[in-house]
Amino acid sequence: MTRRKQVYEGEAKVMFEGPEPGTLVQYFKDDATAFNAQKRGTITGKGVINNRISEFLMTRLAEIGIPTHFVRRLNMREQLVRQVEIIPIEVVVRNVVAGSLAQRLGMAEGTALPRSIVEYYYKSDKLGDPMVSEEHITCFGWASTHDLDDIMQMSLRINDFLSGLFLGIGIKLIDFKLEFGRLYDEHDQMRIVLADEISPDNCRLWDVKTNEKLDKDRFRRDLGKVEEAYQEVARRLGILPEMAAGDVKGTPTVQ
Ligand SMILES: Nc1ncnc2c1ncn2[C@@H]1O[C@H](COP(=O)(O)OP(=O)(O)OP(=O)(O)O)[C@@H](O)[C@H]1O
Ligand SMILES: [Mg+2]
Repeated sequence: MTRRKQVYEGEAKVMFEGPEPGTLVQYFKDDATAFNAQKRGTITGKGVINNRISEFLMTRLAEIGIPTHFVRRLNMREQLVRQVEIIPIEVVVRNVVAGSLAQRLGMAEGTALPRSIVEYYYKSDKLGDPMVSEEHITCFGWASTHDLDDIMQMSLRINDFLSGLFLGIGIKLIDFKLEFGRLYDEHDQMRIVLADEISPDNCRLWDVKTNEKLDKDRFRRDLGKVEEAYQEVARRLGILPEMAAGDVKGTPTVQ
């Protein structure tokens, strides 16, 4: 087995150099953090499930013409992606009041928004990912106005598509976080693609009938049945069957 060079280790994933230049291997861990890493824990089997869920959602999005970094899933915990220059902005799309929006503006969680809201946060662990406006993003050169137009359009399209997809399996898409990156082709043409992951780690997903939370809020708020919630989302998406129970415990990162 060839030794792989680790490029980055984050809270939820490890990025390794991929087999070809311009590719990365994204390894999904069971580690979970919340509140800017003040709370830490493990969600057994999360890495396996998020790898599958993100593969599934990125593939569906590619089918409707959203460019993504996803190439293919390699195994239970790893996927091959195109290496991109990450735009240091977390894009949050909201359909229903929850989380920090409820906190900051003193609104009741669960209130439907009259229209979807897109928010931007500057990716900086040191600063605790502060919320920023388009003005800050363009002023500091993190992205151009044109980049932001693309990002906003893609984010709203992703929201429309995913809201429908989840509704079809009895789940309300309350809000979610996206990351985008710059990908350059052989002619040095740049395009913005969806990167990172889409999973219950970065979406709020509520059961349509019961409003039961099926996402990382179960971990953040100590609601219990965390593993079960991730499994339930995967089960409803129809992507659990081949999961071998043996791997849910996870293998140590092979380097
Ligand atoms: N295609 C890609 N090319 C390069 N970097 C990527 C790509 N997809 C995701 N990343 C980056 O890899 C890291 C994934 O690791 P993880 O999600 O564990 O990070 P994190 O702990 O959430 O930290 P961060 O604050 O950087 O997101 C993130 O920093 C993400 O921006
Ligand atoms: Mg992350």
